[in-house]
Amino acid sequence: MFSTSARACQNLLSGIKVSQRFQSTLVIAEHNNENLLPITRHAITAANKLGGEVSVLVAGTKCGTVAEQAAQVQGASRVLVAEGDAFKGLLPESVTPLVLATQQQFKFTHIVAGASAFGKSLLPRVAAKLDVSPISDVVDIKDKDTFVRTIYAGNAILTLKAKDAVKVLSVRGTSFEPAADGGSGGKSEPAPSGDYASKVSEFVSQELSKSDRPELTSAKVVISGGRGMKSGDNFSLLYKLADKMNAAVGASRAAVDAGFVPNDLQIGQTGKIVAPELYIAVGISGAIQHLAGMKDSKTIVAINKDPEAPIFQVADYGLVADLFKAVPELTEKL
Ligand SMILES: Cc1cc2nc3c(=O)[nH]c(=O)nc-3n(C[C@H](O)[C@H](O)[C@H](O)COP(=O)(O)OP(=O)(O)OC[C@H]3O[C@@H](n4cnc5c(N)ncnc54)[C@H](O)[C@@H]3O)c2cc1C
Ligand SMILES: *[C@@H]1O[C@H](CO)[C@@H](O)[C@H](O)[C@H]1NC(C)=O
Repeated sequence: MFSTSARACQNLLSGIKVSQRFQSTLVIAEHNNENLLPITRHAITAANKLGGEVSVLVAGTKCGTVAEQAAQVQGASRVLVAEGDAFKGLLPESVTPLVLATQQQFKFTHIVAGASAFGKSLLPRVAAKLDVSPISDVVDIKDKDTFVRTIYAGNAILTLKAKDAVKVLSVRGTSFEPAADGGSGGKSEPAPSGDYASKVSEFVSQELSKSDRPELTSAKVVISGGRGMKSGDNFSLLYKLADKMNAAVGASRAAVDAGFVPNDLQIGQTGKIVAPELYIAVGISGAIQHLAGMKDSKTIVAINKDPEAPIFQVADYGLVADLFKAVPELTEKL
C-alpha cells in the first residue's frame, strides 16, 4: 500500500520542474503612505507574467492603508509590511537592506519594481548586493528568464536570457496594463525586522509640485512644448489648451534646459516615458532622445513650422504652422 502511493507520489513529482515549483516574485511597492502609486499595479501585472506567487513589499512610515490596497490587487497573494522612521522618504539606502533581508528569508526567484526614479535608484543597489546583473526597463516578458528591453534610446529592441539565480528587473509602466482590484485579498504579514536606518543619508523634506492637472505618466492626453515655445511664459498657451482637454503638459529637454519649465516635465530618454491616447508635440523637432519617451503614444499630433522636422515621421497628424497661431486657434475651437 505504502510503497505504491510513494511511487505514485514520486512519479507525480518527477513531472514537475523544480525551478517552477519554487518560482516566486517580490514586487517593491511605490507609494506616498496614502496610496499605492499606479506604477506598482503595472509592476504586479509584469510579475504575474513571470508565473508563480507574487508578494508585494510595502515599506513606509504609516503605510497600513497602502498595505490594505496592495492586498486587494489582483495577483498579489501576500503583502509584506515594514513600518518605521527608517523608511521616511523611501530612501534607496534604507529600502535596499530591507529588500535584502526579505530576499534572505523568502528566497524569491525574481525581484521587480517599476522603472521609475524610485525603482531606478533602488534596484541597481539590490542587484549589486546580490551579485547579479540588474535588467532595466523591461518592456516584455517572454518567460521566467527571457526578457525584452529597449536599447540605444529605443532604437533597437533586445531579447535577453538571464542566467542569474535571482532576476532583478525594473519594468516599464507603459508596457504592462495596471493590475486591477478584485484579488481574493492577499495575506498580510510583517517583513523581517532590522535596523534599516541609513547611515549615509537622511530624508529632510520634499516639495511636491501641486497641480490640478492629471499626472504626466498616467494622463490620457499629453501636450508637450519644445524650444519653439521661445519662453516659459508662452507655455501658458499650452496650459490653456491642456485645461480644455484635461491633458497633462510635458516638455522637451531643450525647453527644460532653457529654463522654460521645471525638469519633472521632461519627456524622453533622460526624462519620463509616456504612452497616452493622444500626444501633441508643439514646437518640438523630434530628436531620437525625445521620441524614446513618447513614440508608443496611440495617436501623435505634431505642430511645427518646419515641414522637414523629423517629428512628422512619427506623427499620425501633422500641422505645418506657426504654433503661436495654431495653438490659440485650436484652443478656441474646442
Ligand atoms: C544623452 C542625451 C539625452 C537626451 N535626452 C533627452 C530627453 O530625455 N528628452 C528630450 O526631449 N531631449 C533629450 N535630448 C536632447 C535632444 O537631442 C534634442 O536636443 C531635444 O529633444 C530638442 O528639443 P526641441 O525639439 O524642443 O528643440 P529643437 O530641436 O530646437 O526644435 C525646436 C522645433 O521648434 C520648431 N519651431 C520653432 N518655432 C516655431 C513656431 N513658432 N511654430 C512652430 N514650430 C516652431 C522648429 O521648427 C524646431 O523643429 C537628449 C540628448 C542627449 C545627447
Ligand atoms: C513668446 O515669448 C517671447 C520671449 O519671451 C516673447 O517675445 C513673445 O512675445 C512670446 N509670444 C507670444 C505669442 O506670447
